[in-house]
Amino acid sequence: RDKIPHLPEIHVESSLNLLLRRAKENRTVDIEEYETTGGYSALKKALNKFSPEDIVVLVEESTLRGRGGAGFPTGRKWRFALMNPPPRYLVCNADESEPGTFKDRIIIERDPHLLLEGMIIAGYALGAKEGYIYIRGEYPAGYLILENAIKEAKDRGYLGKNILGTDFSFDIKVYRGAGAYICGEETALLESLEGKRGHPRLRPPYPAQSGLYGKPTVVNNVETLSNIPIIVTYEAYFMNIGPSGFYGPKLFPVSGKVEKPGVYEATMDITLRELIEMAGGVKGGKQVKAVFAGALGVYREDELDMPMDYSPKGFGGTGTTIVLDEDDCVIDALLVVTQFFHHESCGKCTPCRIGTYEQHQILKKLKEGKATHKDIDYLRHLSQNIPANSICGLGFSAPNAVSDVLRKFPEEVEAHLKGKCRICG
Ligand code: NAI
Ligand code: SF4
Repeated sequence: RDKIPHLPEIHVESSLNLLLRRAKENRTVDIEEYETTGGYSALKKALNKFSPEDIVVLVEESTLRGRGGAGFPTGRKWRFALMNPPPRYLVCNADESEPGTFKDRIIIERDPHLLLEGMIIAGYALGAKEGYIYIRGEYPAGYLILENAIKEAKDRGYLGKNILGTDFSFDIKVYRGAGAYICGEETALLESLEGKRGHPRLRPPYPAQSGLYGKPTVVNNVETLSNIPIIVTYEAYFMNIGPSGFYGPKLFPVSGKVEKPGVYEATMDITLRELIEMAGGVKGGKQVKAVFAGALGVYREDELDMPMDYSPKGFGGTGTTIVLDEDDCVIDALLVVTQFFHHESCGKCTPCRIGTYEQHQILKKLKEGKATHKDIDYLRHLSQNIPANSICGLGFSAPNAVSDVLRKFPEEVEAHLKGKCRICG
């Protein structure tokens, strides 16, 4: 514990007290405190009251959607894995790297046993004997905290052989990434876990069918797995939390020009506008110009009333909210995003490797007032063709922000073409 680096100050607020119940203060909750505040009672309930199949049905009925960004129904993913014979693996994707996303780290650093409890219950439901947590290399404190929490859980019989005196045995190992964003893509992550270069595999087959070492593998995000003890505790009452079809708590990392950047827990009927208000509103009482939603896209002020759910008209994704105010240049922000995708492209597909580079070069020209309408047409061409000719989520989403800015902020693009941006000069 002495070796664990100082945790960064991140503001945390919750109107629900579910996922963030123990995570309000900037310190790690140890196993003693976790137990005395109800921790591991969901695991005891799961092992005493429910069969593995009961747990899978509970998760299916909860309609829990994956919190890593795609919103795929968790119960359905588990069911797919169960259709394939053992051995089955459980992998927790803790390679949180989407621009502006820092929600999973709060659970890992402050309430690690919540994640472990969720994984142990998931392992029981899936008939898995081994679970892995793949944590991003830039979370050194989280790595040490998880290692320590695993030791604590083993010492108290929650992990290892014959958990709590039952015939269920399950172990968890933590694996550190080496700083590549692409290793958050689930198949690149599995390659990396196997000790190979982190390049995505073609899907299908999905990991639920053929994952780690070619065996059925469920890859779930940290926040998704941390919902499992809550589902087991609340059972059908879970469906009273939040709007129909999008039940359960959700974490929203909010940053940029807001008064109180931080991680917020709310139900998914909260709108983007309300979320920004929850974060204290725009800094200095200014107006929102744009919201960058991680890799998902860019929204204008007149779109702020959308719900933060996974419906076609909802915000979706990881819930990442980066707020730009009236004095920010959208093209400047876009340059950061395109530089990121160019740098992180693994290079396997030519349209993604070259296209992300070209996007960034054209935007640099635009910023310098040297781009032409022909360059903008080429940007549009790239926005269609990079995703159409790529094999993984990075290539699919790399042009999202670019095409949104071209479509939703034409006046900003035009101002840069004329070299007359009010902000850049
Ligand atoms: P996806 O929609 O292709 O798949 C989502 C999940 O459902 C995967 O686990 C996949 O294996 C499973 N799945 C889908 N169809 C299936 C089927 N027929 N049978 C069995 N399983 C199936 O999305 P993908 O490419 O896995 O993830 C993209 C998302 O990840 C984006 O929304 C992006 O925002 C997010 N992301 C999040 C990051 C973070 O830091 N949290 C980083 C990078 C991307
Ligand atoms: Fe790599 Fe990009 Fe192809 Fe994904 S789309 S495999 S990141 S080159």
